[in-house]
Amino acid sequence: QKNGAITEYDLTLQSGRTAFFDNQFTPTIGINQSYLGPTLDMVNGADVRMSVTNTLEEDATLHWHGFHVPARYDGTPHQRIAPGETWTAQFQVRQKPSLFWYHSHAHRRAGPQVYHGLAGPIIVRDDEGRTDSLPHEYGIDDVPLIVQDRAFGSDGRLIYARSMHDIMMGMRGDTLLVNGVIDPAFECQTELLRLRLLNGSNARIYDFEFETQQSFLMTGSDGGHLEAPVRMSRIRLSPGERAEIVVDASHGVPLQLLARSLSGEMGMMDGGMMGGRWGRGNSRRSSEGSVFKVLLIVPNEQLRPSTATPAKLTTLPAIDPSKAVKTRRFVLEMGMGMGMRGRGGFTINGKSMDMARIDERVKLDTTEIWEVENASMMAHPFHVHDVQFRILDRNGRPPPEHEMGLKDTVLLSSRERVRLLLSFKDYADSDTPYMYHCHILEHEDAGMMGQFVIE
Ligand code: C2O
Ligand code: CU
Ligand code: CU
Repeated sequence: QKNGAITEYDLTLQSGRTAFFDNQFTPTIGINQSYLGPTLDMVNGADVRMSVTNTLEEDATLHWHGFHVPARYDGTPHQRIAPGETWTAQFQVRQKPSLFWYHSHAHRRAGPQVYHGLAGPIIVRDDEGRTDSLPHEYGIDDVPLIVQDRAFGSDGRLIYARSMHDIMMGMRGDTLLVNGVIDPAFECQTELLRLRLLNGSNARIYDFEFETQQSFLMTGSDGGHLEAPVRMSRIRLSPGERAEIVVDASHGVPLQLLARSLSGEMGMMDGGMMGGRWGRGNSRRSSEGSVFKVLLIVPNEQLRPSTATPAKLTTLPAIDPSKAVKTRRFVLEMGMGMGMRGRGGFTINGKSMDMARIDERVKLDTTEIWEVENASMMAHPFHVHDVQFRILDRNGRPPPEHEMGLKDTVLLSSRERVRLLLSFKDYADSDTPYMYHCHILEHEDAGMMGQFVIE
């Protein structure tokens, strides 16, 4: 709702019950509803006020993933909202048009809270709400897809076991929810369909592709448009990452979008299409792993014409590492001891998350190179708050074209080394930190997270 120059959002964290299977209810958490939250529509440059009321029986937070906001409004564990309290965050939207999301960042509880539903999408549109030249009719030819795997008992109850294995691999399930629904179908009315994909899973990494292998155009990454569309037939997304794709449905034939799950160890494929029937939910298992149904696109008989996708979408600043005044190193490790704290646990630079410790101090108005190395045997998505960064290289080689845009989360396979270019601006606060962490939520909760301040 609008109040003068400020757009207000009232968000209530609430517990509820949701039936993901017919008449089988399970306890869930949502924002203004029983599972997940509403799509927040925002315009770049707008002033917004988020009032977040926690009606749950435990502490919670809401974090605006991918957003450039003052640290005290970032919704990290430092902005915990106690039961019964309301927390207010006020900031200007300073984002390129893209899909972002909000989710719980509660201290050591992000995994279970997001798993039970504390997350939702944010769509940022251009200044003045100007639409872009891509399909942009929400729910008609512009559709966000929040993709989350979940485990259910035979009674339809969500299972969040938190066994040692679940913590190590991250919590995984064999049923895929897409915007909270199993195996959805979409009636497509237009020749082109824009899908905004968000991997909102706790841990699984997927390759998205069509069953027919039909190609699509990738037009945007985490924080905005790519300079030019990239033709692809498969896009890999780890937890926290987003991709916008434009799909051609003008042939009129139904299209099944699939997500092949990768094995956690090496970021290698474990999804096989051989044999196996679709399970109770929408997954198919083979000796090689899981393939999930994401969305069945059913084109109408009469399709409305769409504007052709432009050859150029935006201009991004050149990636210039010579601007960097400092290089920092971050080594991701999973110790053998598997202890929850300190050595042997989930660490960055040998340290497990400590709310009272600032790990890095960054100077305002500087550009830095962050060299991130995955020294463990599992793949980890590395996420940095406050900034949209650029990928300089992977193992010394330039990233693929679709990774040259704005990013806030980057997947590192085992033993991989990635260099990022980040610029820190606008907001300084030497007392309130931002986070960087693995976006496998069980790893984050177990301590694979650090804190930096900008001063
Ligand atoms: Cu998507 Cu620190 O979070
Ligand atoms: Cu974030
Ligand atoms: Cu991890």
